[in-house]
Amino acid sequence: MTDVIKIEGGHKLKGRVRIDGSKNATVALIPATILANEPVTIYGVPDISDVGALTTILNFLNVTVERKENGDLIIDPTNMKNTPLIEDSVTQLRASYYFMGALLGKYGRAEIKMPGGCDLGPRPIDLHIKGFEALGATVSYEQGNYVIEAKELIGNSIFLDIASVGATINILLAAVYAKGRTTINNAAKEPEIIDVATILNKMGANIRGAGTNEITIDGVEALGGCQHEIIPDRIEAGTYIILAAAAASEVIVENIIPLHLESLISKLNEMGVDMTIDIDKITIRESKNLKAIDLQTNTYPGFATDLQSPFATLMTQANGTSHIVETIYKERFKAISQLQRMGAQATIQNGRAEINGPVQLFGGSVKATDLRCGAALVIGGLLAEGVTEIRDIYHIDRGYANIDEKLTNLGAKIWREKI
Ligand code: EPU
Repeated sequence: MTDVIKIEGGHKLKGRVRIDGSKNATVALIPATILANEPVTIYGVPDISDVGALTTILNFLNVTVERKENGDLIIDPTNMKNTPLIEDSVTQLRASYYFMGALLGKYGRAEIKMPGGCDLGPRPIDLHIKGFEALGATVSYEQGNYVIEAKELIGNSIFLDIASVGATINILLAAVYAKGRTTINNAAKEPEIIDVATILNKMGANIRGAGTNEITIDGVEALGGCQHEIIPDRIEAGTYIILAAAAASEVIVENIIPLHLESLISKLNEMGVDMTIDIDKITIRESKNLKAIDLQTNTYPGFATDLQSPFATLMTQANGTSHIVETIYKERFKAISQLQRMGAQATIQNGRAEINGPVQLFGGSVKATDLRCGAALVIGGLLAEGVTEIRDIYHIDRGYANIDEKLTNLGAKIWREKI
């Protein structure tokens, strides 16, 4: 027996939807809290399965986690023990690799199984490892486990060949207790990195430049507790905005930071989507005659690779031929292959996709090959004639809190079944 999501398409969406705290910030903030020697409270934690997996890992480390009804987490690392993280739960999500930097930073040793996550093609962690080594650690890999050790971590100047989100955060975590100054050049600039630097600074770290391509970390002796509110999820927000552009009569997406969504908003404007942007919300109205456009994914503030798949579904409704160039993860076009099963007219070649529209999508049985593919298929299901069945929905539950409830409140016909 397996759970599937079913959607009866063709119902125009109307109403308000509130965006939760950022998944990709949450999955870094939780490991960051273990650097403290006192309890840390995080507000606005989304109700997603990745949080459960990280809680299990914290429990292995003898860190207590209290989850309030409203989602707030109180994480207490006071009695923490540096246990090897070699259980299978570590491989459930990619972000478990942030325990590498955090444990190395706090104890000078991390032993951890190779992390998992969405299959988006090869996802090396060479830059994380080079960063740890630059701080004085030795890294070995035996029988599926990494052992990262250092007698003493010493600040250094690190240049990242690629502006990697994961490597930037992992080096930050490892460097907060290192002796002296660490600089990360060609650092990633994503808002989630600013959020991680902010919580660490509240705990007592000395980090400057997060959000630019040069981050400086001056090592400190001890970190204490703090309280922190997670930034809104720009990818969840983007997904609901795209979904509204495709299938709404009028939808208001609340609790957003429009600045984090600039590249998306400019592409929607180019397509002719009718919307009004306020300080912390955006209203999207039904748009007729959407225009085909071209887009290329890029690191922040470029167009997010995570929104590429949902956007591809919207492109099936635009007049003419749209093009996508994917520069971050080549396997991200798996969603388009699934959309083709629902009637999308598309070709994929050499990291480029061409999508012709408008077409009437039709319901069928499709598979969420990764989290954002799942989002693309949900939008497809809302637009399709008939009922769409989406399988492998555990991917969707890793990143979209209460998606059925949020969409039902907007007037969608969406439900779960066991098959
Ligand atoms: N890369 C390397 N070596 C490394 C690290 C990265 O070659 O050591 C390459 C990757 O293969 C990729 C590029 O650099 O081609 C960018 O990877 P990055 O490290 O920035 O991505 P990530 O940290 O693995 C995070 C998000 C992803 C999101 C990307 C890009 C988390 C937990 N994950 O991944 O989110 O797509 O940044 O913005 O923060 C998702 O939410 O669905 C998701 C996959």
